[in-house]
Amino acid sequence: MSEQQQFDVIVIGAGPAGYHAAIRAAQLGMKTACIDAALGKDGKPALGGTCLRVGCVPSKALLDSSRQFWNMGHLFGDHGISFKDAKIDVAAMVGRKDKIVKQFTGGIAQLFKANKITAFYGFGSLHAGNIVKVKQHDGSEIELKAPNVILAAGSDSIELPFAKFDGDAIVDNVGALDFTEVPKRFGVIGAGVIGLELGSVWNRLGAQVTVLEAMPDFLAAADGEAAKIAAREFKKQGLDIKLGAKVSKAEVKKKGKTTEVHVTYTDAAGEQNVVFDKLLVAVGRKAASKGLLAEGCAVQLDERGRIVVDEHCHTGVDGVWAVGDCVRGPMLAHKGFEEGIAVAELIAGLPGHVNLDTIPWVIYTEPEIAWVGKTEEQLKAEGIPYKAGSFPFAAVARAVAMAEPAGFVKVLAHAETDRVLGMHLVGANVSELVHEGVLTMEFSGSADDLARICHAHPSLSEAVHDAAMAVHKRSIHKV
Ligand code: NAI
Repeated sequence: MSEQQQFDVIVIGAGPAGYHAAIRAAQLGMKTACIDAALGKDGKPALGGTCLRVGCVPSKALLDSSRQFWNMGHLFGDHGISFKDAKIDVAAMVGRKDKIVKQFTGGIAQLFKANKITAFYGFGSLHAGNIVKVKQHDGSEIELKAPNVILAAGSDSIELPFAKFDGDAIVDNVGALDFTEVPKRFGVIGAGVIGLELGSVWNRLGAQVTVLEAMPDFLAAADGEAAKIAAREFKKQGLDIKLGAKVSKAEVKKKGKTTEVHVTYTDAAGEQNVVFDKLLVAVGRKAASKGLLAEGCAVQLDERGRIVVDEHCHTGVDGVWAVGDCVRGPMLAHKGFEEGIAVAELIAGLPGHVNLDTIPWVIYTEPEIAWVGKTEEQLKAEGIPYKAGSFPFAAVARAVAMAEPAGFVKVLAHAETDRVLGMHLVGANVSELVHEGVLTMEFSGSADDLARICHAHPSLSEAVHDAAMAVHKRSIHKV
């Protein structure tokens, strides 16, 4: 083994949480190393984690391609635009996605270089005394040491024992980004974020999509009214979402040259059998803590395999921190961004902080679904008195002009203090609008504050304005 190398900060994982931590630490003058084991589709090291390689970024590329295709058949006519023989070239669409991934993963490598961060390509593990060992791709092992180590190992897809991923017929999010043709019958287990986004992609391109969801309620984590509106729109698009469907078997069978997946599930009507060409299993993700912590390093895992941290992302072991998907809190790239920055700043003696109560959620379907803060169901369960104001996009001139009138905005405010407690949105571009709610909540603003802020006309943001006004029953445009 080569000589031990010394750094001020070592980050394990170059995903959203890890690369933010590394860059901020380097900006603050610390000698920083960042380790990542991932390889790109070309077999070369690729920084950026799940988000850039096989998650947020590539799925958005496919969502946008498929949206353009879908709009040709479902929206262009409204605008008086006609065309003949629209076709989708799946290889070109996937190629475009790969190019975008390469651009952004390469961008992280450039940022590391510009910030003088030393990148190590291989699997890192933490040992007692803040020693990090890296098993590099060529098989060699190196040893690093630093007073501060940040664990940012991310998460992996959960595998169902009766539907193991084979990378071909039964896939996770990675496989479902790379189909070579549109599957005729596409099955999805789990009507969560990944299931709905990737189900939408292939549905828009012509697949017959069936989503099997074990829970009796659709999108149980979202506000009930928002989930209902979204479910109605998905049904119109032909997404067949079966609730209360408990899958017990998924068997891959060869039929001549083709492969089929035979799935058995049970719902209220009893046992059902259904056949798919491809099956996506998207039933959640688990912290990627396996092999990360060597015996004696004293870092604790919880019952779900997540690294135990306090509110400052400190593990309780001197100089050892953990951020992103491998710790508690929502598994969202932007939550990881903030934790990475906060920890680098705390190490530098600055006041780093992340408010988990104002993390926005976005599901990039059509319409998009977004929210921040509490749902009505949560407020009721917690006995918090609240007022609600909502406004439909069907009454917003800009949304109608765009021929995208589906959805609404709902503002929830405390009944006595008027402080905004939550905002729930379904509609076009609500991934952007939700930040009005985030800002208001971060600044402890009220529904009245939001209602008194001038919003441009015509713009989609008027739905937020009118919903805030509706909290006090003074929406101008609502009957
Ligand atoms: P998820 O937690 O969003 O949804 C999983 C769904 O599967 C749940 O509705 C659950 O009830 C259902 N389920 C669990 N076991 C099942 C079973 N045996 N049979 C049928 N249904 C079952 O998980 P998902 O979609 O895999 O995504 C993982 C994480 O990735 C999310 O929590 C999210 O944080 C992150 N992500 C975020 C995105 C975004 O922000 N737009 C996009 C993609 C992923």
